[in-house]
Amino acid sequence: MKLWGGRFNTDPDKLAAKFTASISFDNRLAKYDCIGSIAHVKMLGKQKIIPAKDAVKIIAALKKILAKIETEKFKVDFSCEDIHTNIEKEVIKLAGEAGKKMHTARSRNDQIALDEKLYLKTEIIEVISKLQKVIISLDKWSALHKGLIIPGFTHMQHAQPVKFEEYIGAYTEMLGRDIWRLTDAYKRANIMPLGACALAGTSFPIDRKFVAKQLGFSIPTKNTIDSVSDRDHVIEFISDCAIIAMHLSRVSEEMVLWSTKEFAYVEISDAFTTGSSIMPQKKNPDIFEILRGRTGRAFGGLVGMLTVMKGLPLAYNSDMQEDKLHLFNVVDSVKESLSILELLFNNIKLKTGNIKKAMLNDYSDAVEVANYLVKKGMNFKDAHTATGKLVLYSEQKNKDFCDLSLSEFKIFSKLFGKDIYEALKVK
Ligand code: ARG
Repeated sequence: MKLWGGRFNTDPDKLAAKFTASISFDNRLAKYDCIGSIAHVKMLGKQKIIPAKDAVKIIAALKKILAKIETEKFKVDFSCEDIHTNIEKEVIKLAGEAGKKMHTARSRNDQIALDEKLYLKTEIIEVISKLQKVIISLDKWSALHKGLIIPGFTHMQHAQPVKFEEYIGAYTEMLGRDIWRLTDAYKRANIMPLGACALAGTSFPIDRKFVAKQLGFSIPTKNTIDSVSDRDHVIEFISDCAIIAMHLSRVSEEMVLWSTKEFAYVEISDAFTTGSSIMPQKKNPDIFEILRGRTGRAFGGLVGMLTVMKGLPLAYNSDMQEDKLHLFNVVDSVKESLSILELLFNNIKLKTGNIKKAMLNDYSDAVEVANYLVKKGMNFKDAHTATGKLVLYSEQKNKDFCDLSLSEFKIFSKLFGKDIYEALKVK
């Protein structure tokens, strides 16, 4: 079934109909299509654009359909061109002739823009809440090891000792910024496009503020042409998700590394690892690897979506129908990634003994030694050189700084006193 056909002599070619139809994927928006239509029809009735009794009938039908969708009893009719057609067909079945008035003063162009924004608003909130849960699980993990010192790295070499909670805190900062970005993206998704109709608005006395308020939008859009041709909010959301995926790939890479035999800083519980079909001893950090790999979906979605929109003239163009495939794909992937990551951090153990061992003789407190000399009056350049020589000496003696005697320290500067051992306490 389709919502047009009056001016056509022949039915569409089968393959052409299949190629242009979007029902196979936009049926995901069924719920939002009903919610949007309920607000629209309420407005039509209030403005006397359609008789109040017809509005009541249509709304009753839409509510029935919505209830079915919410209880997963709604059967999508894949012979319909899109979800709008499918819902309208059901409304006409339930409300009779009145149902044919539902589509007054709107077009599918502003309808799909509305459906997508309603969907997006819900998903933004969901992704934010999943990010919060990952942050909580990371915080719980770091709270288990309060005060623990671990090696901090630059260039993947031991650099300076840092607190484990600061290390994990760096990841929660990243995820916090992701929440911040999404909160901002929400503001732009929260502007209501219905009423733009095909592109030029309508001569019916519609009340767009009323519709916006009903649906929880902040305000209606200003420009009708932009309303139906804008997908910036989809691109913005996907790019926020691409940044999230990049962040998850970084923390995942760290965990893959930390679970190697060489590092052995963490042990992932059996339930969250997999084995090898040939090597019986293997325990692989697959989930972290897949999380790292999932960036492909998010980055792919972003490039795909930017490409869909690139060079499109105003206003609505059917290219834009493809946006949903990218959007849904990214939403599914990022939500699933965040859910599994939350679980993972509740199922990973820090091997503190190995971490302590890794810090022996690593001279990661060399900056502290140089700073000590500066505080005693030496300039930083000379302090750097003297400490460098001290490192060389200690390496040859196979001793850590704290194992050196005061007279050994004094070989490199007379400024060293007993309190040097105090400065080395951090490690
Ligand atoms: N299926 C379209 C989409 O997803 C909505 C309908 C747009 N209007 C049209 N005349 N094809 O964007």
